[in-house]
Amino acid sequence: MVDVAVNAMTDWASHGSNANTGGYFDAANRCDALLDSTRSVLGDFLGADSSGICLGANMTTMTFAFTRAIAQTLKPGDRIVGTRLDHDANISPWRIACETAGAEHLLAPFDPQTGRLDMVALEELINERTKWVAVTGASNLIGTMPDLKAIIALAHKHGARVFVDAVHLTPHQPINIRELGCDVLATSPYKWYGPHAGVMYIDPELLESLPIAKVRPASNTGPRKFETGTPNFECIAAVQAAARFLIEETMERIVTSEQAIFAPLLEGLLATPGVTVWGPHDLVARTPTVSFTVDSLTPDRVAQELAAKKIAVWSGDSYAMEVVAQLGLTNSGGVVRAGVARYVDENDVKHLLSTIRGLVSR
Ligand SMILES: Cc1ncc(COP(=O)(O)O)c(C=O)c1O
Repeated sequence: MVDVAVNAMTDWASHGSNANTGGYFDAANRCDALLDSTRSVLGDFLGADSSGICLGANMTTMTFAFTRAIAQTLKPGDRIVGTRLDHDANISPWRIACETAGAEHLLAPFDPQTGRLDMVALEELINERTKWVAVTGASNLIGTMPDLKAIIALAHKHGARVFVDAVHLTPHQPINIRELGCDVLATSPYKWYGPHAGVMYIDPELLESLPIAKVRPASNTGPRKFETGTPNFECIAAVQAAARFLIEETMERIVTSEQAIFAPLLEGLLATPGVTVWGPHDLVARTPTVSFTVDSLTPDRVAQELAAKKIAVWSGDSYAMEVVAQLGLTNSGGVVRAGVARYVDENDVKHLLSTIRGLVSR
């Protein structure tokens, strides 16, 4: 977490004047004001109408709540289209909603060579029965960024709505929901230097009409309709601070600096004999995240060797189990995933590459 977010959380918890929403006294008013100002800052950060900004525990929990509501709007024969590039948090909630409603759930493949979403296959799946297209803004495993604008236009042409999982996209690219035109977008502040929390933009008109499970006294309108129970105010204070940090920093600057640090990482891995890079081999339409395997070592083993050198990488499928399955790597332990974030520098990249070269030459 960035220090301004840590401080915002501590300040909120320690200022001694916080309670809950909906009261007539100062501490209650401050809670209302915190929710309002956070929605407003997130609206600025994501280019969205702040009256659609909902706050919650994390993307997965919020997506399940959302798709439970959607399940009630589906009929047998309806179709939901997803992609195999997606994290399972944007697949299983839809799969379960379809099972509940007797609807169809179909996933568009990606090209295992290039890691790019197969747009022809996607187009073939979207028809007049399609109610939702659930697509990732970027693969958390191989970094591919599908062409969201084209997908949203295609879905809307057929009368389908679009749910974008922007959890992996948000820390690496500017997002403007108004320009994108998606109906729902989910993101997780802990991926962008904030606290463990979730944020979901839901088109305000859609939000009004959704049959969301709620307790009777809770609001029947606006984001509070979707935000069950007492908000996690201290976390929300930190979410707002993290968003302010990124607005000030500018995502454009982050993109430029991350790409400069990532390019030698990708190049270095591609040039190392005994290393296979999965997903795109170029820098086009991708995040600074790369997955690879090392000949004759399991991904877990590689991650352990790197951890011993103080290099933190993930191994396995990182919940992108469809990606790993389509790459044919399920039975061999998936991949090793390394990524560049705001605090990673060129020395970190050099250290990672020299450690990998040492492993390969053993
Ligand atoms: C692309 C993507 N979607 C969804 C999730 C799930 O997010 P959360 O941990 O907030 O539930 C993750 C988490 O890693 C992710 O990378």
